[in-house]
Amino acid sequence: MRQEAIRLLQSGKTVVLVPTMGYLHEGHLALMREGQKHGDALIVSIFVNPKQFGPAEDLQRYPRDLDRDMTLAESVGVDVVFAPEARAMYEEGFQTHVDLELLPRHLCGPSRPNHFRGVATVVAKLFNIMRPQVAIFGEKDYQQLAIIRCMVRDLSFGTRIIGVPTVREPDGLAMSTRNTYLSEDERRSALSLSESLQQAQKAVAEGISDSADLTRSTSGLIGSYPHTRIDYVALCDPDTLEEVDRVDGPTLMALAVRVGGTRLIDNAILKPIED
Ligand code: PAJ
Repeated sequence: MRQEAIRLLQSGKTVVLVPTMGYLHEGHLALMREGQKHGDALIVSIFVNPKQFGPAEDLQRYPRDLDRDMTLAESVGVDVVFAPEARAMYEEGFQTHVDLELLPRHLCGPSRPNHFRGVATVVAKLFNIMRPQVAIFGEKDYQQLAIIRCMVRDLSFGTRIIGVPTVREPDGLAMSTRNTYLSEDERRSALSLSESLQQAQKAVAEGISDSADLTRSTSGLIGSYPHTRIDYVALCDPDTLEEVDRVDGPTLMALAVRVGGTRLIDNAILKPIED
């Protein structure tokens, strides 16, 4: 892959990378279509990265279908698919990781220890293997995107990071590989995430700005659906991810909710009325 990437670069192409864990859906394909606009050699990586899964998480059952993924990638004009084996990415004796100090303390960090360390490490490896000028990530994983932007700045990767808005099902559910785990009942309850974000946006537009009031009504709505268990409902600064007491500028509302046995996340930037 390194040789192929060097060849692309030397032939004057702008290399764009879309990192994924595969089992592609429309959200992933939107990233690839965006990638097309920013260069002329589009690489997609497909790697279910063991380092970003906790011991009790779904690494073993994470869905995989490389043939289907290859067909989908080809249909949106992807030039190269990089799908390494875990033992090629993490050889025996592997011991170097990328750790961020502050951003992983918030939101998903506390309930997924070492998750973002695994993400930052694998993305750093992918960037070193392929040296992309541009890489595309989804805003659906807002904290991940913030962490990648910060890592690229801190470690001078020089890769331009582009974020793509969350792609949703017609009823509002954010697309996610993990949606495949949901039963019919749970699928209905999963709508509580996007619905409560919409409710919060409406409340903020009507002038409600107290974070405690907003998180209370959001938690109330989610809790009114069966099979839901809230991990967090947070209002935070979109850059630092630190929690805020009031919504008096664009504010990130981020949610993590267990629906049955499946942990789902969603987020939106809430914008108060202009004065
Ligand atoms: P994965 O969950 O496969 O997601 C790959 C990329 O697709 C991420 O940038 C994610 O934010 C984006 N994505 C997923 N669902 C989306 C949606 N509904 N709308 C828009 N974008 C969406 O995220 C990962 O893999 C991994 O952590 C990875 C970055 C590949 C590192 O292992």
